[in-house]
Amino acid sequence: AALKKYQFDVQVKNVSRLCNAKPIVTVNGMFPGPTIYVREGDRLQINVTNYAQYNMSIHWHGLKQFRNGWADGPAYITQCPIQTGHNYVYDIHVKGQRGTLWWHAHILWLRATVYGAIVIMPKEGTPFPFPQPFQEANLVLGEWWNKDVETSVNQANKLGLPPPMSDAHTINGKPGPLFPCSEKHTYALEVMPGKTYLLRIVNAALNDDLFFAIAGHNMTVVEIDAVYTKPFTTQALQIAPGQTTNVLVRTDRIPGRYFMAVRPFMDAPVPVDNKTATAILQYKGIPDTVIPILPQLPAPNDTNFALDYNQKLRSLNNRQFPANVPKEIDRNLFVTIGLGINSCPSCQNGTQFTASLNNITFVMPRIGLLQAHYFNTRGVFKTDFPDKPLKAFDYTNAPLTANLGTSLGTRLSRIPFNSTVEIVLQDTNLLTVESHPFHLHGYNFFVVGSGIGNFDPSTDPDRYNLVDPPERNTVGVPTGGWTAIRFRADNPGVWFMHCHLEVHTMWGLKMAFVVENGKSPDQSVLPPPKDLPPC
Ligand code: C2O
Repeated sequence: AALKKYQFDVQVKNVSRLCNAKPIVTVNGMFPGPTIYVREGDRLQINVTNYAQYNMSIHWHGLKQFRNGWADGPAYITQCPIQTGHNYVYDIHVKGQRGTLWWHAHILWLRATVYGAIVIMPKEGTPFPFPQPFQEANLVLGEWWNKDVETSVNQANKLGLPPPMSDAHTINGKPGPLFPCSEKHTYALEVMPGKTYLLRIVNAALNDDLFFAIAGHNMTVVEIDAVYTKPFTTQALQIAPGQTTNVLVRTDRIPGRYFMAVRPFMDAPVPVDNKTATAILQYKGIPDTVIPILPQLPAPNDTNFALDYNQKLRSLNNRQFPANVPKEIDRNLFVTIGLGINSCPSCQNGTQFTASLNNITFVMPRIGLLQAHYFNTRGVFKTDFPDKPLKAFDYTNAPLTANLGTSLGTRLSRIPFNSTVEIVLQDTNLLTVESHPFHLHGYNFFVVGSGIGNFDPSTDPDRYNLVDPPERNTVGVPTGGWTAIRFRADNPGVWFMHCHLEVHTMWGLKMAFVVENGKSPDQSVLPPPKDLPPC
């Protein structure tokens, strides 16, 4: 195994999009940031040096960080932030994973511009379990705001309003020619005819679930969240914030220029955001004067497409890549997702948005939870997060007020080492319109079931897929529905779980698990690194 080192300089740079320039926080002056290339089994050391005026922390989304939450990155969960003028080396062992993941800032809304792809190649000499591609390319999907993001979010919070929508979507940081002044900010992928390409697609958007399609070309899905899947062919993808999807594309159409396009998926009666970002699939030798055609994307509120698409995602579950789905469950959690408006005496109009899990709005601590856990520091958090809501109600049909009340707290759920866990995430009546993409740090989980309406514990588990359910690190909980996930708690530490819509995370849609140490030293959290940032 090799040691791969990266230097990440967090620095402010002027970047222009949509007809104006503004300073943004970047890594190494790049937007999106650099791609990390490693091989399964490698050790990765990333020295993050912070030259920006903001505190910084970077999360390696989807890397499991076995016993090593110190390198996970969410600010105040596993570390204190890296202050201006300081640095921290994320020391990561890439074990038992290969595929596409990504990294992003995990503090404030800084991931708006601080993000990039992680490509984990299989071990030397190990082929992909699908046709070897001729070449590969990354497509990192994002959002762009004309105004400064932190300033806009702060202003909205003061007024008790939701933060403003982005002004554009982007592909590799570029919105494409359907946006003003963006002809020169268009990503083009040059391809040879008659070949197979592997596209690594990342949804790095802050708040938008997305549909993606390529004009004239089908895609074969072969991997999600760095786990191989049973291949299937589709005209469009649905990809939630935090998720990654690898597809194979055959360049077997009439050589030309074809748009690749991205537009939000919002299962709302009236979609409020239908901006389309585009990039170009350009066959070699075709002149730039040829006008590309747009692909057919599912309608922004095409919930059926999304449900159907997610049904098709299955683990490979073969000899080489078995799906070890826990069959017996030691610990069942039922967690309601609530959004509401609470009073806020200090806010301009007296109210503010809140979000809650089992009616608890998570309060960020002032020192890292992992440190507090490791050093047994009292008074930082409690471990009394309830395994189910305090009172049951009709989750999806009750009047809106049924789920508005929340209490504040830094309440974690304690899980014995190696126990098997099932979490049913139940959406409740909502104020906003997206499905909630839930992300668990430190683990992959199996998505064993999902449905619309209220979860029924007496019948729904009978329909679980315990054979080849998709394995991933981020899953969409459908609007007005539920999703059930299972995992084995074999990674000790403190692990964050939250909605990957930044606006909901900010409102409190988050909690954390304390997974206890096992009996032997190699089942215990590693000692903290010497350069762990102090608070
Ligand atoms: Cu990609 Cu806690 O996030």
